[in-house]
Amino acid sequence: MSSTQMSKTADVSGETCTLHTDGIPPDTLIKVQRYLERFHLTREKLQEVSERLRKDLIRGLGKHSHHKAPVKMLPTFVRATPDGTEKGDFLALDLGGTNFRVLHVRVMEEQQRVLKMDSQICAIPKEMMQGTGEQLFDHIAACLYDFLLSHNLERETLPLGFTFSFPCEQKEIDKSILIRWTKGFNCSGVEGEDVVKLLKEAIRRRGDYDIGSVAMVNDTVGTMMSCGFRDQSCEIGMIIGTGTNACYMEEMKNVKRVEGEAGRMCINTEWGGFGDDGSLRDIQTEFDVVVDEMSINPGVHTFEKMISGMYLGEIVRLLLVRLTEDGLLFGGRTSKALLTPEAFETKFISEIEEQDNGLENTQKVLSKFGLKWDTVDSCVVRLVCDAISSRSARLCGAALATLANRIRVNRRQERLKTTVGVDGTVYKKHPNFSEELRATVRLLAPKCDITFLVSEDGSGKGAAMVTAVMVHNYCLLFIAELMNEYVLFRQQ
Ligand code: BGC
Repeated sequence: MSSTQMSKTADVSGETCTLHTDGIPPDTLIKVQRYLERFHLTREKLQEVSERLRKDLIRGLGKHSHHKAPVKMLPTFVRATPDGTEKGDFLALDLGGTNFRVLHVRVMEEQQRVLKMDSQICAIPKEMMQGTGEQLFDHIAACLYDFLLSHNLERETLPLGFTFSFPCEQKEIDKSILIRWTKGFNCSGVEGEDVVKLLKEAIRRRGDYDIGSVAMVNDTVGTMMSCGFRDQSCEIGMIIGTGTNACYMEEMKNVKRVEGEAGRMCINTEWGGFGDDGSLRDIQTEFDVVVDEMSINPGVHTFEKMISGMYLGEIVRLLLVRLTEDGLLFGGRTSKALLTPEAFETKFISEIEEQDNGLENTQKVLSKFGLKWDTVDSCVVRLVCDAISSRSARLCGAALATLANRIRVNRRQERLKTTVGVDGTVYKKHPNFSEELRATVRLLAPKCDITFLVSEDGSGKGAAMVTAVMVHNYCLLFIAELMNEYVLFRQQ
């Protein structure tokens, strides 16, 4: 390692955080660290955050308190993980991440596996993400038609699973009211409406094909269920990608909004909304406040805005601009690109923090941004990225620890052994995110032994893509289960 290279040996206990900062002159380092300190969360602070979330989970579950709760704790009506005996032909839509996908899956009971699957990715232009709901659903219906046509399925009426990764109040399996848009979406006329109805109306407007019954599912639930196929003890699903969220199996007796006391139900926590009542103000920095104010949904999804891929790059950019203005970077000269909102993508953070090629990657990114950098600048930029991504990982770790502790206490177990199914680009692509997250969970949930199951494997882009498709196919497997469960639930 050269003297100017940094490697991170962050101690997540929060007491000491040793970063190799060789090559940065001491006076610059002190000033830079003054900014970065604001992103450092001590063990005590993380514990406090976890405790606040614990209380918010209870508020969200309560019959009379859930209306005002920032963490929505939405019942999903999923009461069991799949047993692999489901079969049939399904269509699936997946909306909510960076892309919109259409899939066709054939599941054979005997093999207990997906026999055939095809998928297609459709881009959703940014204007459409913020246009009218009618335009969005017409586009989705058109993509679905193209897919059916190219797979000779346009005359079939197949059941459809809809992975819709936004907070929805699930009224019935095929009735799901959008509470609010998150991430980059803000289409008019959809909030407060039944998303399934809007989809069906768009298909009816076309009149050239039809679909069968529809099952709605959040991506966290899909992840938990898909991982549940590989590991029966998977009871938590977590996403750290464009957005962040988690679901887990809660005791029915605690789900006050749903009749019945027996068994468990999967709860979509929507933890991205944590802090929307101001409870995280003490840890929000001025940069978080700007990110929130400039977003299309100010005041909403506070926790998500400190954590997920949609926002991390922007926090880094704002910090870099400030450090430059303070003369601590690039000889005090910014560039047009650096001053452009959202120009600094979160994937750059992962590239910059890479152990082996990080310094080189940093310099490539800075050159791309038209900045005049030297080696000290590159080191400072790496420190900045590290501070932002570490905070994100630790906050996620604290939140996950809250869920694990809750499950353990619910079951009155001395030790809990459980598995978390995880998906999302931030978790999967960042070089040390998962490590820091785990360390935080170990610290805050010492009586829980947690196995992490990434819901896709393969490092290559192509492999990742194929597996991403798999994940949602598995999600379809459980939709059959979901439908069965729902029927049983209605009969009770
Ligand atoms: C949404 C969640 C979703 C998460 C991850 C959040 O913005 O509110 O429903 O699970 O993103 O995609």
